[in-house]
Amino acid sequence: MKYRITFVKEGITYEAEEGMTVLEAEIAAGLKPDAPCGGRGKCKKCRVHIDGKEVLACQTVIHGGLEVETLHEEVKSQILTAGYGRKVPFHPGELPADIKDPLLAAVDLGSTSVVAYLLDGCTGEQLSVKSVLNPQRQYGADVVMRSSYALEKGADILSSCIRRAVNELLREAAKSCGRSQEEIVKIVMVGNSCMHHLFLEIPVDTLVLAPYEPRVKEALTLKASDYGFLVHPEAQLLWLPNIGGFVGADTVGCLLATDMDQRERMTLMVDIGTNGEMVLGNRETGLTACSTAAGPAFEGAKITCGMRGSAGAIDHVYLKDGKLEFHVIGDGEPQGICGSGLLDAVACLRRTGAVDESGRMKETYYFTRNVFIEQKDIRELQLAKAAIAAGIRLLCKRKGIRTEDIEELLIAGAFGNYLDPASACAIGMLPKELNDRIISIGNAAGEGARIAALNTQEFERSKELAAKTEFLELAMDPEFQDVYVDELEFPE
Ligand code: FES
Repeated sequence: MKYRITFVKEGITYEAEEGMTVLEAEIAAGLKPDAPCGGRGKCKKCRVHIDGKEVLACQTVIHGGLEVETLHEEVKSQILTAGYGRKVPFHPGELPADIKDPLLAAVDLGSTSVVAYLLDGCTGEQLSVKSVLNPQRQYGADVVMRSSYALEKGADILSSCIRRAVNELLREAAKSCGRSQEEIVKIVMVGNSCMHHLFLEIPVDTLVLAPYEPRVKEALTLKASDYGFLVHPEAQLLWLPNIGGFVGADTVGCLLATDMDQRERMTLMVDIGTNGEMVLGNRETGLTACSTAAGPAFEGAKITCGMRGSAGAIDHVYLKDGKLEFHVIGDGEPQGICGSGLLDAVACLRRTGAVDESGRMKETYYFTRNVFIEQKDIRELQLAKAAIAAGIRLLCKRKGIRTEDIEELLIAGAFGNYLDPASACAIGMLPKELNDRIISIGNAAGEGARIAALNTQEFERSKELAAKTEFLELAMDPEFQDVYVDELEFPE
């Protein structure tokens, strides 16, 4: 039996099968709802109005015709596109001979956002950069939820939605500089192992269940048209290699962008997203990588008033005369709080004594009547920051060094770009002795993809980099649990 579901605000009607949830109907109708918990009824971000009542779309089963008023706005997040700035000679290799002015593309496929860079295939000049939120967020905020969705319902839904989005992004990028996507002859992609597998429709079972390893690690050279790209018929699709676990091609991109294996100084590179991937080492010691499930707290999911870093988000909080003051993106009324704001706020609440060392809060803290931080949010942040801190400690142990021996701490990714290092150190997410050694390196993963598109030798070097980077599987480390529990507390 089918029922007519009308999405009033969008003016869209959809014929839904009986038994579907309203969230499933929204997705099937082409809307882009936010569903960070993947429809498990936990995040409360999928609220809609039906018959004047507020309900969760993911928990509302269709047994008749409905008029649904969605509450979500199309989120315009700040997406980071600038990188570290490493220059490489332009040497793109052999390109199809039948095209006079070829284009090259580099794509950073993040769990939260996707960035595409369009490059001139004759000069290497960057012509355009476009970005979009990853549409897979409808199926869960983090890689674990999306993998579970793929295991339960098949990976093809997640693959086709992301392939469509990347294709559309390249079309827009080409159009913005008066070109056609059919002129694109090479696409280089990076993403974590899960994004890699979901894009290529490779089963993710071995990633989320033991042995927690990607099925495919090696760098790939494929035919772009086989993956739905409407580009030049001979265009190649190149993927940088994965390292191990969730440490994937995006981390290899960061290593390329920072020349990590050539550095003399002992360097820690941390890419903080829904997963925290980190690499430690230098030219002499070699590189060791690991990833920790930081969870999506830093991106606003699972936080009661959490949101991404977009207009209306409290992104910075500071103390003035003993009171918390805040800054809102876009300077309007606060709608919620994003990761960097949450970190600052908790650092301030620790300083005022409103949150104790164990994380216990005296009372809910209200920025406004509708935007607040409560006990459960502090607990979520503790879980996320402890995962990062434990990863750093165990990497140092593996290398036989102390955290104070780290000479440079490079923070990659959007969250790293906006966070205040002092707050990250104050809550114990990053070692406090490294406070003045922290350097933000922007979207280094995207930059790595760009470097590999511009220079074929760099693409070859990415294979060598991945092969020689040791992977530390924290899930198998008997010490992880103890160190993790240890790191849950806030520093004094
Ligand atoms: S509560 Fe419905 S998607 Fe999370």
